[in-house]
Amino acid sequence: MGIIKIPQSSVDFFKKHQDEIFRSGNLSEGPWNEKLADKVKTISGTKTAVCVNSNGSGLVALLLIFKEYYGRKDIMIQSNTMYGVKTIVGTAGYNLVKFIDCRLETLMPSFESFKEAIGSYQGNLNELVIMLSDMGGIINPDIEKISKFCKDKNILLLEDAAHSFGSTLNNKFAGTFGDAGVYSYYSTKAVFAGEGGVAVTNNEKIGNLLKDFIAYDRFKQKMPIGCNIRLSEIQALLVFSVVSNLDEIMGNKLKIAEKYMEACTKSKIEFIDQTKNSNIGNHYKFTIISPKKNIVEAFPKIKTTTSKIYDYALGQSKEIPLKHLCLPIWYGLDEKITDKVLSELKN
Ligand SMILES: Cc1ncc(COP(=O)(O)O)c(C=O)c1O
Repeated sequence: MGIIKIPQSSVDFFKKHQDEIFRSGNLSEGPWNEKLADKVKTISGTKTAVCVNSNGSGLVALLLIFKEYYGRKDIMIQSNTMYGVKTIVGTAGYNLVKFIDCRLETLMPSFESFKEAIGSYQGNLNELVIMLSDMGGIINPDIEKISKFCKDKNILLLEDAAHSFGSTLNNKFAGTFGDAGVYSYYSTKAVFAGEGGVAVTNNEKIGNLLKDFIAYDRFKQKMPIGCNIRLSEIQALLVFSVVSNLDEIMGNKLKIAEKYMEACTKSKIEFIDQTKNSNIGNHYKFTIISPKKNIVEAFPKIKTTTSKIYDYALGQSKEIPLKHLCLPIWYGLDEKITDKVLSELKN
């Protein structure tokens, strides 16, 4: 984690503006939260953006709002996602009724496995939330179909866009496919600033409830739920400084990915392509897959790897941890590492 860098121009921007915060005395609930929310709103093309101190806190808040104001109590999440997604739904007091199976080709659920999961559900669809996580940098290619289905059936869809800030599907920005979405700027992410998150929604009611939730609704005093999950001004400035260099970060990672893609294609190694079919990823991860054999048997010489997404399955989808690996790819990655990976791919 320590070797992942943010652009120098982000560091310079942060240093240039940090004194403004100290001079103004506004260390919380100040202009940098507003500027960051406006920036993310513009980039994502959403009506509302709310800064929160992590993706997880934003998701818990939205789930509590869905429970209190939309009568939701049951939830399904995907089998292949971070363990914390399971604790997020437990923290929000939901019944976790199903893990939706994922496929190796995308590491996410297909429309078919989503429909299968819905078919097995015994409860009332008006009480259900589906929370799907974008994996490794791309948006679930079936999310438009899933989203339409959810809308038609009055199921609430929450997009966990922790991995996918900057990614688009058919020119639509990650986080915008469901009723709400939340990005993460935690240290390991493609676009990161240590900590922080932003929740986005096009639903005015949800957006307004979330804005009040993050401050205990202490001004209007109408809501029975709420907590301080705000982002500090210093952290909002840091996230703003990094997000402002989104294109540079994504461009730098794309260059590394292009080298890996060329080497994989030459060596006939299957990988998850983040540059095709209008499904443009931020290259949070570069993932190699081996549909037939376990990955260590298929490619014993590939040793320079980074953490998998994930090395466990929450539900079924047990083959995913065994059949993929991830190559190092982050902003400013040392060329010596890239060269080592390339020579291992050639072998
Ligand atoms: C898929 C997924 N969802 C949610 C999170 C939570 O993000 P945060 O650490 O910002 O709460 C993470 C990573 O940390 C993640 O990988």
